[in-house]
Amino acid sequence: QDELKVLVGRAAAEHVLAHLPSDAVLGVGTGSTANCFIDALAPHRARIRATVSSSTATTTRLEAAGFTVIDLNDVESLPIYVDGADEIDADGHMIKGGGGALTREKIVASVAGQFVCIADGSKRVERLGTFPLPVEVVPLARNAVARRLRECGGAPTRRLHKDGSVYVTDNGNEILDVAGLDIVDPRGFEARVNDWPGVVTVGLFARRRADLGLFAVADGVQ
Ligand code: A5P
Repeated sequence: QDELKVLVGRAAAEHVLAHLPSDAVLGVGTGSTANCFIDALAPHRARIRATVSSSTATTTRLEAAGFTVIDLNDVESLPIYVDGADEIDADGHMIKGGGGALTREKIVASVAGQFVCIADGSKRVERLGTFPLPVEVVPLARNAVARRLRECGGAPTRRLHKDGSVYVTDNGNEILDVAGLDIVDPRGFEARVNDWPGVVTVGLFARRRADLGLFAVADGVQ
């Protein structure tokens, strides 16, 4: 799967080099697949005027690779945003946030002209929900939101680090990972969960779905 990520990272770099205007800013997502994209694009960094990053981890990686990272507030348009996903369906609806960066990812994606989702083929699903849905919550609201998620048939757990300490997002919030959901109406469910007090972001990207999917499988990139 690591090889597939490298392959799709290269394909995304080629797409960007072919389609991103020379004076434009590029949006860059978070995760191991996005890291492969950064690595593939790094030799061409002089061609990319600046980037906007979706997490502190990605900012660190971009800067180490020699890219300029600027604040989204200083950007008027973002023609292309490249990011991975945890699951994606045939309509481009995604579950994201396995890496914890869902809130900034959704903000950057909302500004982008084209959302390019890159993944290995195993991330493609008929229906979303096998991958536990990440929901970023204000810490005070954690149990209230968890109760509502249980009423929807989900089994939320508080995200912890391997050492048992609480996972805290770049925005100072916590994440509930919700197993057991069968998401038949991604758009409706995104809107419903978004509406609950204390929910910062639900890791369903249905209203802002992918415009282009690049998927690496054994015999190449589809
Ligand atoms: C980060 O918060 C996520 O949305 C990632 O885009 C997603 O988890 C995919 O990560 P990998 O590329 O590491 O599988």
